[in-house]
Amino acid sequence: MTHPALPTPPSGLAVDALSAGYGREDVLRQLSIPALAAGEVTALLGPNGSGKSTLLKALAGLIRPREGRASLDGLDLTRLDHGERARHVVYLPQSLPAAVHLRVFESVLVAAKASDAMAQSVDLPAIDRLLERLGIAHLALHYLDALSGGQKQLVGLAQALIRHPRVLLLDEPLSALDLNYQFHVMRLLQQETREHGLISLIVLHDLNVALQHADRAVMIHEGALHGAGEPADVITPASLAAVYGVQARVEACSRGRRQVLVDGLEEHPG
Ligand SMILES: Nc1ncnc2c1ncn2[C@@H]1O[C@H](COP(=O)(O)OP(=O)(O)O)[C@@H](O)[C@H]1O
Ligand SMILES: [Mg+2]
Repeated sequence: MTHPALPTPPSGLAVDALSAGYGREDVLRQLSIPALAAGEVTALLGPNGSGKSTLLKALAGLIRPREGRASLDGLDLTRLDHGERARHVVYLPQSLPAAVHLRVFESVLVAAKASDAMAQSVDLPAIDRLLERLGIAHLALHYLDALSGGQKQLVGLAQALIRHPRVLLLDEPLSALDLNYQFHVMRLLQQETREHGLISLIVLHDLNVALQHADRAVMIHEGALHGAGEPADVITPASLAAVYGVQARVEACSRGRRQVLVDGLEEHPG
């Protein structure tokens, strides 16, 4: 005798008909996203005000969705208490870390302890190694409130990565970084994501960075899904016109990598 198959919970991070916003206003409108898999970097794309930060805040539990759900391997993320969620999910907001008078090393140590309050001891050499990998070992004994914007952003990444989350939510983590560090950080995030099987969702404005460094892309427009899949399938002249209101080409460079080239503005965006 065969039994009817029990529905298997979706694995990975899934967003299902999520509506969320501020006050009575919904920013996310019944947003559904195909499940994001472990070991993959997903670029979260969309124009200013489309709801990218709102989505990350909802996934991080900072705002409560009005409807729908977000789940991690079938576990409803929106119903976890703070402690439980903090063990699974790390969120790095768009604003830079507060300029507290703490040394870089100490601030990463505090972050490591915050995610695992039960730990008897923190792996101090792991902090050294992470600062080294991020290229900021020389700043370990500097005070946070005396760092540049880009340096603070790198410390924020160290604070996020030292917690070894399952889900890494980064809101525009490259915004203050120079070209060299942008490349360095994206490569490091890809390595960490693969090695530790993280689910990394990263808000990026630079579509060329998404084409080069992301495994997948999710594009949202006015709080709803516009496209999801391979970056090259999501970032197209049609989606750039419809979502960003620009006339653009996506062309292969001399090494065969795709590049976005903006030629002008759409007459009637949207
Ligand atoms: N704290 C807030 N209170 C009220 N409205 C907000 C707040 N934060 C964002 N919004 C509004 O929500 C919409 C989406 O914002 P956001 O998610 O930050 O967009 P994105 O990150 O894609 O640029 C915008 O119209 C913005 O004005
Ligand atoms: Mg934002």
